[in-house]
Amino acid sequence: MKVHILGSGAGGGFPQWNCNCRNCRRIRSGDMRGKARSQSSITLSSNGEDWVLFNASPDIRAQLASFPPMQPGREIRDTGISAIILSDAQIDHTTGLIMLREHIKPWDVYCSAAVLQDLTSGYPLFNVLEHFRGVNWHEITTDQASFTIPKLDGLIFTGVPIKSEAPPYSPHRHNTVPGDNMGFKIEDTNTGKNLFYAPGLGEIEPHVYEYFENADCILVDGTVWTNDEMSNEGISNKLASEMGHLDQSSEHGIMNTISPLSKPRKILIHINNTNPILDEESPQHAELINAGIELAFDGMDIEL
Ligand code: MLT
Ligand code: MN
Ligand code: ZN
Repeated sequence: MKVHILGSGAGGGFPQWNCNCRNCRRIRSGDMRGKARSQSSITLSSNGEDWVLFNASPDIRAQLASFPPMQPGREIRDTGISAIILSDAQIDHTTGLIMLREHIKPWDVYCSAAVLQDLTSGYPLFNVLEHFRGVNWHEITTDQASFTIPKLDGLIFTGVPIKSEAPPYSPHRHNTVPGDNMGFKIEDTNTGKNLFYAPGLGEIEPHVYEYFENADCILVDGTVWTNDEMSNEGISNKLASEMGHLDQSSEHGIMNTISPLSKPRKILIHINNTNPILDEESPQHAELINAGIELAFDGMDIEL
């Protein structure tokens, strides 16, 4: 399985257009060793020709242009993307669908019933897309049943309900339901290897930990180093936990939880612009690397 990171940043990207936090200011002025990052999305394929897109970010136009397999050029209008899977209904994970409206047929979009509800009510993207080619919705159930996708031979997908938050415009904003946030196990039957992808994760429940243990690679929520990071920067009084993101550095945070896992390669994705790990010379970055954890970056390729 080939996994390509299209966007490794959180909502807003890095640097964020209106942000003058320590990181955004320093990356802009060239005073920091680190990489700019576009918003959260990955694509993967078993045969290298037919790809599934996980999440459609507002940066998708540049992301597709940056990766040649996305445009195989076989017909007058073409794409390497066979289907789209959404992990949630957040703006940074879905707004790219609007940019993909010129598709020649309805997009095959796989997501939970909860995400469908958000995208036809609080953030009615699917309703808007009905005025173009529309969306062919395929339900991802919350019972961890495996499914396959036509053309994506050799790949078996499992949607895993995880605890995080529903978006601000969701009808279930303050009473999340299973399916508001999904992680995914993707197994390649040709290699026997599997990836677990969860860009938004508020709590590592036992069933999620089991998927971590058995994965060959985990790509997991890397939003913040500390829970109060955004209020410390004077940006927002919201805690990361209120936005459904588990921090990396606390006792039961992501670093201590995943560092001891011996099987999987461990990679953070959806990294917020306030996170000190973005500075490759910071002590936090060093701590993470010493814990055996990598940072995803735009353009990163993973072979499983
Ligand atoms: C999140 O991951 O919490 C959201 O995407 C943040 C945002 O973009 O507003
Ligand atoms: Mn996000
Ligand atoms: Zn910033």
